[in-house]
Amino acid sequence: MSHIGSYDERYKNFNWTIAEKELDYGNNSIYNIGYYCSDRICEKGLGNRRALIWQGFTGEVRTFTYNDIRIYSNCFATFLKEVGVRAQERVCIFMDRIPELYISFLGILKMGCIAQPLFSAFGEEALLTRLDDAKTRAILTTKKHIHKIRRLRAQLPELTKVIVVDAGDKPLENDEIAFDMDNVPNVDHFDIFKANRDVPSVLHYTSGTTGKPKGALHVHSSIIAQYITTKWVLDLTADDIYWCTADPGWVTGTSYGIIGPWSNGITQAVYDIGFNAQKWYAFIEKHKITVWYSAPTAIRLLMKEGTELVQKFDLSSLRHLISVGEPLNAEAVLWSEQAFGKPFHDSYWQTETGSIVITNYPGMKIKPGSMGKPFPGIIATVLDQQTFEPIRKPGSVGLIALKPGWPSMFRTYWNNKEIYDSKFKNDWYICGDRSSIDDEGYFWFVGRDDDVINTAGHLVGPFEIESALLEHEAVAESAAVGKPDPINLEVVKAFIALKPGYEPSDDLMINIMNFVRKKLSPLAMPQEIEFVDSLPKTRSGKIMRRLLRAQEWGEDIGDTSTLEND
Ligand code: WT7
Repeated sequence: MSHIGSYDERYKNFNWTIAEKELDYGNNSIYNIGYYCSDRICEKGLGNRRALIWQGFTGEVRTFTYNDIRIYSNCFATFLKEVGVRAQERVCIFMDRIPELYISFLGILKMGCIAQPLFSAFGEEALLTRLDDAKTRAILTTKKHIHKIRRLRAQLPELTKVIVVDAGDKPLENDEIAFDMDNVPNVDHFDIFKANRDVPSVLHYTSGTTGKPKGALHVHSSIIAQYITTKWVLDLTADDIYWCTADPGWVTGTSYGIIGPWSNGITQAVYDIGFNAQKWYAFIEKHKITVWYSAPTAIRLLMKEGTELVQKFDLSSLRHLISVGEPLNAEAVLWSEQAFGKPFHDSYWQTETGSIVITNYPGMKIKPGSMGKPFPGIIATVLDQQTFEPIRKPGSVGLIALKPGWPSMFRTYWNNKEIYDSKFKNDWYICGDRSSIDDEGYFWFVGRDDDVINTAGHLVGPFEIESALLEHEAVAESAAVGKPDPINLEVVKAFIALKPGYEPSDDLMINIMNFVRKKLSPLAMPQEIEFVDSLPKTRSGKIMRRLLRAQEWGEDIGDTSTLEND
């Protein structure tokens, strides 16, 4: 593991300039991520190396070299410019995991626009909130998803460019534009937008407890951290075939499904299907995947299928396994050692942090159930809930906090500086999670410090769910909380108090479920509704979701006076 160095040594001697030099960031005064993920790799003489091995859900395979993605992304950038999209305008990518998603992302950045990826399973309401907040100028989508946008157009006056990347012969409506990257002339040279380090690059929406989802805004120099964490934590080298199972609608899919691997010039594989144990193993076998980045929910689903299934495949190519998004339970680590002969290495970070901040660094002793230690260059601690001072006593639980200053740190929440500012206390950035640190410096995750629900590694804000429920004529009040689930960690449960004149019944429950299904993404859909006479509230009238949650988890509610603090 010489190229990644020993953890202790790296941590002691690291500064971000080392990472910048490794990436050669600022070469010829170029700072644009799009350049470092394609042109730069070609300039190093690696243009014929495979950048992307893509497999569709029907089994069809396409491969793209670095030169291909350089040219195709130039085509996207040129096209966006030609249709009148201007630098720094938001361009949304709304499609399944097809090659155009990955390549247009680079094109958008080369053009100087802000890429705004959104998960293609989002329902109309979820989409509307995020496009409206960002005042998105253009959206790139496919025939499969265009209907959702058509229904929202009237409410989105700023969204003047609707671009369909697979229109073929299908007629489009009104002013929609067709763009097919395979059927346009090659653009060998594009004048890449002269971004500096602090120019915004990517806008990812994430959910909080209150209010609408917030857009975490990243800048071009985030690539420094994404590059070096990919190299050292994912332990990628030139010969690797890397597979990240995350969708680029979420930050893992951009930081480690596009920017990280491509700035390292390695070959990555993408599979455009959801979870399927058989198909996933067959995919690893077929493409000889060596490094695999996935999530605890997927691992738990694989565990359910057992080691017998694993043995039907030749998975001997696998060399390094990493997990993110939710607590990785010790059983999952031990099972993966049994099933694959290798442990999953946990990694902890957030949309806001832009890159991995705490992790089981390769070669470091793994303590199953622990997230590991801070990545070199990251100063992490746990803070006292009241004083926001670091807690020195090993094993005490506090708020996970990071010293600001690493390159991929978000720079603000779009239109929401107030909430951004509220995340900092005593010069620490507060992640919103609770953890303890043991006497060897390992972090042990305890839980979130807010009411956000983590279902299968995806964060869902109660506000969006409750707003959708409240639109139903029978609903007077509602509270959405996470209830325990053996596979997904948590699923959404809604508590509902009805308006006078309505009686709880199964029919009404189904009616409400169907009503919100269209508004919410499948992840945010309540799996259970419980009718109650009224909801527990603080003295000032805020719903005490924590109390409801504690009941679901069978936890001691303890001193409710603290819960009643506003
Ligand atoms: C939240 C961030 C980071 C990419 C995907 C999610 C939870 C993340 C872990 C982990 C326990 C984890 C935290 C965090 N989380 N990784 N290894 N162990 N919890 O990004 O949607 O911004 O979610 O996911 O609660 O704050 P995100």
